[in-house]
Amino acid sequence: MAKQDKKWLQRQEKDPYVKQARESSYRSRAVYKLSEIDKRDQLIRKANTVVDIGASPGSWSQYASEKLHSQGRIIAVDLLTMEPIKKVEFIQGDFTEPSIVKACLEALGEEKADLVMSDIAPNLSGVRNTDQARIINMAELVLDFTTDVLIEGGDLLIKLFQGEGMEQYQKELKQLFQKVMVRKPKASRSESRELYVLARGYKV
Ligand SMILES: C[S@@+](CC[C@H](N)C(=O)[O-])C[C@H]1O[C@@H](n2cnc3c(N)ncnc32)[C@H](O)[C@@H]1O
Repeated sequence: MAKQDKKWLQRQEKDPYVKQARESSYRSRAVYKLSEIDKRDQLIRKANTVVDIGASPGSWSQYASEKLHSQGRIIAVDLLTMEPIKKVEFIQGDFTEPSIVKACLEALGEEKADLVMSDIAPNLSGVRNTDQARIINMAELVLDFTTDVLIEGGDLLIKLFQGEGMEQYQKELKQLFQKVMVRKPKASRSESRELYVLARGYKV
């Protein structure tokens, strides 16, 4: 086994969130990032239609599926496959492909989304500037999609990485939403540049 894989496995074994996720039948420790934000900001409770971008293996969709009322629905999209979840319509494909964005729009139909959440993590090259540009580029795609589908007053939760372009992106959000907040849930490793931006109250 490669040294890096061994390190990753050791970290997984020691991680209390991994253990908790396994015991609670969540597919990923990422659920605790969403649940902490949701408990604080009551995101899911007021949502009816949710879009989950970068959804696989599916813990965010699992969590949202439990919280939504019976008529609630989730459109989830990912490059990778995802095991079925109640209330979730899954689209497999690359979100940077217009045909996949179109498939998400078609799945929504006439309906608008109350919440778009994106935990998407583009494939990284290891070259910091290139990767940051990729991340911001993906975030712009998510924002374009969001402005097409979000209901007035709706919310966007998106994972970003601290670095160039992040401030400008937040400025854009501030023009489109009533409130923009940054969240760093406990399950997000402190050494990671990852953080979550929550934009609330879409102005249309
Ligand atoms: C951190 S994981 C998401 C975890 C998920 N929130 C959960 O709770 O299970 C990020 C996901 O983004 C997906 N992804 C990366 N690039 C993508 C792309 N271009 N189109 C669609 N999904 C993508 C990856 O396949 C991966 O499953």
